[in-house]
Amino acid sequence: MVHASTPPLEMYDYGVIKKFSIMAIIYAVVGFLVGDLLAWQLTFPDLNFDSPYLSFGRLRPLHTSAVIFAFGGSVLFATSYYVVQRTCKARLFSSALTNFTFWGWNIIVLAVVITYPLGLSQGKEYAETIWPIDVLITLVWVAYFINFVGTLAKRKEKHIYVANWFYLAFIITVAVLHLVNNAAVPVNWTDSYSLYSGVQDAMIQWWYGHNAVGFFLTAAFLGLMYYFVPKQAERPVYSYRLSIVHFWAIIFLYIWAGPHHLHYTALPDWASTLGATFSIMLLLPSWGGMINGIMTLSGAWHKLRTDPVLRFFIISLSFYGMSTFEGPMMSIKAVNALSHYTDWTIGHVHSGALGWVAMVSFGALYHMVPRLYGTTIYSKGLINLHFWLSTIGVVLYITAMWISGVMQGLMWRAYDEFGNLTYSFAETVAAMHPYYLIRSVGGLVFLLGSLVMVYNVYKTIRQAPDRAARA
Ligand code: HEM
Ligand code: HEM
Repeated sequence: MVHASTPPLEMYDYGVIKKFSIMAIIYAVVGFLVGDLLAWQLTFPDLNFDSPYLSFGRLRPLHTSAVIFAFGGSVLFATSYYVVQRTCKARLFSSALTNFTFWGWNIIVLAVVITYPLGLSQGKEYAETIWPIDVLITLVWVAYFINFVGTLAKRKEKHIYVANWFYLAFIITVAVLHLVNNAAVPVNWTDSYSLYSGVQDAMIQWWYGHNAVGFFLTAAFLGLMYYFVPKQAERPVYSYRLSIVHFWAIIFLYIWAGPHHLHYTALPDWASTLGATFSIMLLLPSWGGMINGIMTLSGAWHKLRTDPVLRFFIISLSFYGMSTFEGPMMSIKAVNALSHYTDWTIGHVHSGALGWVAMVSFGALYHMVPRLYGTTIYSKGLINLHFWLSTIGVVLYITAMWISGVMQGLMWRAYDEFGNLTYSFAETVAAMHPYYLIRSVGGLVFLLGSLVMVYNVYKTIRQAPDRAARA
């Protein structure tokens, strides 16, 4: 279904894809840098520098927004615009809307960078933006939707390739999540009151939060995977039928799983059990998708020896499989009683975020950038170096967090023979110190890998055949 021929560069609108790709790389470096600063702050609290602007509490949402929305979002805009044009054999619907999405998205990121360190936040995780920014997000998202659907409508191919289904589900669901979770009454330009309160607020927030993972960090990146893995491997998708089953199962199941974030809270027990049940069922389509991606290489495994881009894809799918095995386990109430509030969750997050989201994005960028500029990659060796630095970085990060998380959970619940807590809270913090150090080093290695990518992409663009192609 994916077309092997390379159409003339001018047939498609590649300008915006180039811009989004470059911004994605810049945001990756900034997001990883802030993430690693946070890691060092947890290791050595003096690195908060006694400044409110640089404090962990204000920088943490800056990190999550920078990596998820600025880096991840730019990768998704770039790849969705690339995939929809190429699989539909049609130019993007409207260049005005295309430009609006690019500038609008970057203005939103700038607004985040200014408001979060100033402490302007509505206090909802992954939705901290204050209401005027929320309005701007809505406008950009509507423009994105119209542009994407408009391009699908003018397609010259009869069939809508499955990658586009995933992207479309992501665009529609994120719109609904954003509107519902941010429904609020403004009181001035920076503050507002949520329409929900108490446990309803928590439920809506985690319905949003979980599906931000499910649709932003998963469904959309699966769309990416369904285009770029077959292209890079030069093989058809292992099973197109499985990809359709995968699609419907994943979008149906994800939306119910949010309550697993609220086990043992004021949320009714039946709701939390329902969340856990759907989470466990999610293992099946998640692994179906992983297998479909990995098996696309069947008959072409030898390519892994020589193609570092393909290696990025295969390792990202392996991490995807790992985190989607771990997630359902953590949703079981007895397991969550240990893992919740501990670094185990942080380890899980980053095996998904670094291992899956970032690695699959690197693969897509390495595939796309040379094609956008009509050239070949500057250095395969540097991609290989990036691959190893990323892999070592993730492994250091997540193994440190697993050990520290399980240890933390066990220390919190340890009692002596008189029923007193064995450890004070300060003792548990001190015990985590070596693992925080390992995580900080792992983050630094991962960050160095991304700098190698910056250099490689810069040199690739510099060697583009003519200045026009570079614009
Ligand atoms: C060099 C790379 C990175 C480093 C060193 C890093 C480090 C960190 C640190 C130290 C925290 C705070 C943990 C805590 O509060 O105990 C954090 C949180 C978080 N990071 Fe990263 N991060 C990196 C990359 C990423 C990427 C690429 C993503 C997503 C695509 C991501 C998503 C998140 C999320 C969602 C949280 C919040 C987790 C939660 O609340 O449970 N990070 N990160
Ligand atoms: C079948 C798939 C998955 C299931 C069932 C699942 C389940 C879970 C569970 C049970 C938690 C802990 C909730 C808590 O104790 O508070 C969690 C946290 C989290 N997961 Fe997953 N997970 C899955 C896949 C993923 C993937 C692939 C990613 C990233 C790309 C991811 C990102 C996160 C994040 C960011 C959090 C932390 C949320 C927060 O507390 O701020 N998950 N997940």
